[in-house]
Amino acid sequence: MTSIDVDKIRMDFPILSTKQNGKPLVYLDSASTSQKPLSVIEAVGDYYRTYNSNIHRGIYKISVKSTEAYQRSKELAAKLINADSYEDMIYCRNTTDAINIAALSYAEPLIEKGDHILITEMEHHSNIVPWMMLARRKGAILDHSRLLDKSFVDMEDFRAKLELKPKMVAFTHASNVLGTINDAKSMTKMAHEYGATVLLDGAQSVPHMKVDVKSIDCDFLAFSSHKMLGPSGIGILYGKGDLLEKITPAIVGSDMIRSVTFESAEWNELPWKFESGTPNIEGGIGFGAAIEYLEGIGMDSIRNHDLELTGYALKRLSEVDGIRLYGPGEKDLSKRVGAISFGMEGAHPHDIATVLDSEGIAVRAGHHCAMPLVNSVLKQPAVTRMSFYLYNKKEEIDLAVDALEKVKKVLRIGA
Ligand code: ALA
Repeated sequence: MTSIDVDKIRMDFPILSTKQNGKPLVYLDSASTSQKPLSVIEAVGDYYRTYNSNIHRGIYKISVKSTEAYQRSKELAAKLINADSYEDMIYCRNTTDAINIAALSYAEPLIEKGDHILITEMEHHSNIVPWMMLARRKGAILDHSRLLDKSFVDMEDFRAKLELKPKMVAFTHASNVLGTINDAKSMTKMAHEYGATVLLDGAQSVPHMKVDVKSIDCDFLAFSSHKMLGPSGIGILYGKGDLLEKITPAIVGSDMIRSVTFESAEWNELPWKFESGTPNIEGGIGFGAAIEYLEGIGMDSIRNHDLELTGYALKRLSEVDGIRLYGPGEKDLSKRVGAISFGMEGAHPHDIATVLDSEGIAVRAGHHCAMPLVNSVLKQPAVTRMSFYLYNKKEEIDLAVDALEKVKKVLRIGA
């Protein structure tokens, strides 16, 4: 029994009652970006219609209102992840941007020639390339922790790599390809024992489950609004307040400044010292509305629904001849989020996605911005992925599974 009223939720998402290619849209690509409820669309529209103005600059009424709405969304975000204060929430463009800010502002002065930085084999490009470039600039070494069963971080190898004393450890909380949820708390504790600073990529976890930065004790957490019902172009870098206080921002200019002379500048207080220039105000306000929507449903209920759909999809997909599933299987359901990658014997993922699209079903095919994982670990050029959110139903999984039979017919697999 699902604990949330999906039919009622679906009514809040106008796009879900549209047709694509003459068929009702079946949206199974929320790991890429989520759909938006009316409350988010309205929050952004209302800002533009009734109080569009810059923040922190005007002493007139609508500017005060936009400043308060923008800040309130940070308070909601801080509460969502159990951060101490909105001051620890840096708004940026997205998860990629957040990781780059941490790499450029925090890690750049920390990392020296010969130092180690540790990531894992299941990282998204966003959590590989900023560290790779930093390592290249500094003559440092970027290590990666291997996977077990092409699904889980090999904790023995992780510890062995920690023995090299990396100054920075960055890993994903939940893999966008495998769906694997890493034991962020244990991995963070281990990394801290070896003296490392920990950045957690929460792009695929924060939208789907309760993430508590105090309990995990990560030093940084990066996530995006657009994957959790909010607008695109806005994301968060959470950092522990005492760390953020010490960091000199890498991107400097207006709004992040307290005072400037021709010779020197003093930074604004947290979190504003990291937000230079006019920010994505409507994005922040829409993000606040998205968090309110998610909290209204409840993150535990969302997680339960995700588990139910994922368990059902793993079972249905495993019944299809020629399908190969990646990531944790049904017995490890609790260690997964609802992003399921698979391959079909004799079919290229792009062909699978194209045939499904002709049925109105949106899935993602490709390397999912995780080429080292897909190409070197899974040894595939590409995989097809279905991913779920609070508005998906089991019937949609049935439609997708039925459409896989159509793929076989179109491609004459087994004919
Ligand atoms: N990182 C996003 C995905 O996995 C875009 O699809």
